[in-house]
Amino acid sequence: MPDATAVDITSHDTFVQGVPHEVFARLRAESPISWTEEADGGRGFWSITKYDDVLFASRHTELFSSRLGIRMEDMSDEETEARRTMMEMDSPEHTRLRRIVARPFTPRAVADYEGAVRELAQEVLANLQGRNEFDFVKDVARELPMKMLGRLLGLPDNDLDWLVSRGDALIGNSDPDFTDYVVDQTDTSDYRLLPFRSPVAIELFEYAQRALEERRATPTHDVLTALLAPSKDGDTLDDATLKNFFTLMVAAGNDTTRYTMTAGTQVFMEHPEIFASIPSMDSAQMKLLVDEVLRWASTTMHFRRTVVEDTELHGQKLKKGDKVVIWYISANFDDDQFDDPMTFDPARTPNDHVAFGLHSAHLCLGAHLARLELRVMFEEMAKAWSSIEAAGPSERFRSNFISGTKRLPVKVTWR
Ligand code: HEM
Repeated sequence: MPDATAVDITSHDTFVQGVPHEVFARLRAESPISWTEEADGGRGFWSITKYDDVLFASRHTELFSSRLGIRMEDMSDEETEARRTMMEMDSPEHTRLRRIVARPFTPRAVADYEGAVRELAQEVLANLQGRNEFDFVKDVARELPMKMLGRLLGLPDNDLDWLVSRGDALIGNSDPDFTDYVVDQTDTSDYRLLPFRSPVAIELFEYAQRALEERRATPTHDVLTALLAPSKDGDTLDDATLKNFFTLMVAAGNDTTRYTMTAGTQVFMEHPEIFASIPSMDSAQMKLLVDEVLRWASTTMHFRRTVVEDTELHGQKLKKGDKVVIWYISANFDDDQFDDPMTFDPARTPNDHVAFGLHSAHLCLGAHLARLELRVMFEEMAKAWSSIEAAGPSERFRSNFISGTKRLPVKVTWR
């Protein structure tokens, strides 16, 4: 095994080569709660890598807080305050906001979107008719999540490409392909009070403000209008919260699903028999397949918490104020939890992966929507194409936070 300490898991560059699974395996075996130094002057953090410890830290929000930041990097109090979204809240503040915004994302609400998702997936694939080679990420995976979010938020189709590019610039703030303001390569201090330290957030705030004003003037049936309505107990959200939530949707609901869809497609390219079996899978089998893709991709590799009071975990003494990074991607490959985790098993049961976080306060709000988009797109791809194979080298995204392939040239055979 390579020396775990020789691989810098804080560096965005490390993940361009691929996820260093062997490093996480070694940490799980030898040092499940390990101190990780940050190369660029950060104060360092605890890495939690075992499934059970990830569960413990996520569930005990009274000991591990989200309020002081959920990204590995340190932020000043001023920055954290200005950039706060529901992700950087603890209860009761978090519970109150989540109760209001969760309405359009419940399983029942999302089940109603299946027709729209399928129509959009078919449209994305129909636009490719006549082409056998294309970039799967750009032409398929990047298209569906934003189009669907656009439908949900009631945004005009003409704005969607622009919104995708703005979302990319935010989440892609560590990859020069997506932004001119690369966080660890340019001076972004002027933008430190904005989400992702990016001036792009201003454009999104302005866009959101206009969209909200339009809905106030003329209410419609979309999610934005719903968010303006008071909850059952009369609770409403102020504009700053609404704009931060809008920006969070565009950032969180976009590339995560895209990269997971891409990871699934890479599996289908390596295992054509799995792709070939999709048309005959029933809904329970499709559910298992999608969940294994989610585990396998583990697209959001980590989230951070901060220790609220001195505590001991797995024999390590964690001090109040210490940063703790919860490596979901490591938990998803823990062989104490998953049999033969490095094997993709389309029928894996049980599969209690943590790709969406935990069934606790911050479980991904878009989990049902993402599952639906992945299932429907895989079903439509298998209906449209009898095979899919590589047509050139792929390229990975530069990020220690999001694991993904940003370019995947493919060659397909249409049915
Ligand atoms: C495969 C796709 C996705 C993955 C892997 C993913 C992953 C995650 C994870 C791991 C968290 C937990 C954060 C934490 O522990 O602090 C989270 C939270 C969240 N996700 Fe997702 N996500 C996906 C898709 C989406 C979509 C489609 C949306 C919205 C349309 C979305 C919106 C959110 C929001 C708003 C939160 C914050 C929830 C809270 O703090 O209560 N996500 N996501």
